[in-house]
Amino acid sequence: MKGIIFSGGPASVTQEGSPRPDSEVFRMGLPIFGICYGLQVMSKMLGGEVECPEHKEYGIANIDIIAASPLFEGVSRNSQVWMSHGDRVASIPEGFRQIARTDSCPYTAVEDRKRNFYGVQFHPEVVHSLEGQKMLRNFVINICHANADWNMGSFINEAVEEIREEVGDKNVLCGLSGGVDSSVAALLIHKAIGDQLVCVFVNNGMLRKGEAESVLSLFGQHFNIRLQYADAEEAFLAALKGKTDPEDKRKTIGKLFVDTFYSEARKCGNISYLAQGTLYPDIVESRSPFGGPTATIKSHHNVGGLPSDLKWKLLEPLKELFKDEVRVLGRELGLPDELVNRHPFPGPGLGVRCIGEVTKERLDALRDIDAIFIDEIRKAGLYGEIWQALADLLPVKSVGVQGDERTYREVCTLRAVTSQDAMTADWYRLPYDVMQKCASRICNEVSAVNRVLYDITSKPPATIEWE
Ligand code: XMP
Repeated sequence: MKGIIFSGGPASVTQEGSPRPDSEVFRMGLPIFGICYGLQVMSKMLGGEVECPEHKEYGIANIDIIAASPLFEGVSRNSQVWMSHGDRVASIPEGFRQIARTDSCPYTAVEDRKRNFYGVQFHPEVVHSLEGQKMLRNFVINICHANADWNMGSFINEAVEEIREEVGDKNVLCGLSGGVDSSVAALLIHKAIGDQLVCVFVNNGMLRKGEAESVLSLFGQHFNIRLQYADAEEAFLAALKGKTDPEDKRKTIGKLFVDTFYSEARKCGNISYLAQGTLYPDIVESRSPFGGPTATIKSHHNVGGLPSDLKWKLLEPLKELFKDEVRVLGRELGLPDELVNRHPFPGPGLGVRCIGEVTKERLDALRDIDAIFIDEIRKAGLYGEIWQALADLLPVKSVGVQGDERTYREVCTLRAVTSQDAMTADWYRLPYDVMQKCASRICNEVSAVNRVLYDITSKPPATIEWE
């Protein structure tokens, strides 16, 4: 071990029971970097004070670097950072000194050079901290003296070995959605164990227009993978009938996925593992507050919605990767660019974009809206610039006038965001003429809606998906 990073988290060190490391870590002689909550917990445990000011601070800030530090080597003096905190350090422990400040936060960055302890109040790991990667690199390479010798080729070899060792001669079932994550997971596992892998593609009735056909033809034609098609549309829609609460919907969909996998597994012999394309951000954002320190934002179905008595072991070979890394891996494994560059699409599909109750009629309307939106974005040559574009159907009706007639129909929203890892996102400044084309085509071609809105909220405070 070369060093330790204490991450941020939603807890407050001023509250009893908030997570703390063993105090022994401060005596191990290892460099430590505390980020946000990590800085606060380190300060508190080493004799400093943490306060809970009236105003919480969220958003972009410019720091003022006031002392030279190895943490800030090559970083500009007024670097832009992302703040997202309630508490802040009020006094620092002995041996520490202030190395950066902002108007509202005196101890924005601190160090104890002798013990190699560093801490920042902002989040260097998010894209809005423009030189955050440089700071993390400074800590890892210059302060911890770690080697930067990780690359995707070595990841593939190691992952293949690990999968073979873990699985042995057992069989694995993989839920293949046709998105980047599950496709890459399937290819990686296939590389490791060949026909011991069987993929199941579930049509849950909440797919995009033409999606089932394109997944079946791509995997049927290009890859020699055992693939089963499960048409479960009716079962999913029946289970969702009358449900409107987002978490309830997610859990219902997650449970049905598992039920469908169980029934498909009966057709293909003894299965011991369920493989999924879970990524690191899925785990961070769906972990239970009772099981770990990170607040549950949503139960992403492949992480939070699984039953505790799942009869298979989980195989999640991508769980330590971020999306951009998975894309590189996909290319290395020979996935076509069209699939590698696809916008992320959530496992529960249009079910979490059909706000309110999910019905076949509403899904059909949403499928058409989504197809128009994506088509216009592609025609404008913007698809590659956007991390994700999505349409939602709201359970809100408004009055309109079409062909001289009064209409009273649902409202849809369009959202496009830029992001690097989906943990934070900015709304995409879609050109007005593209918005205009989308709105006019949607109202003309989809009879279920008469009003189109564009969502201009970033994450945080909103999430990317509405539910
Ligand atoms: P949120 O809405 O939490 O989404 O900001 C972050 C990213 O995750 C995708 N997402 C999911 N992916 N299963 C998935 O595989 C899910 O249940 C799920 N929910 C959200 C979302 O589309 C965005 O890219």
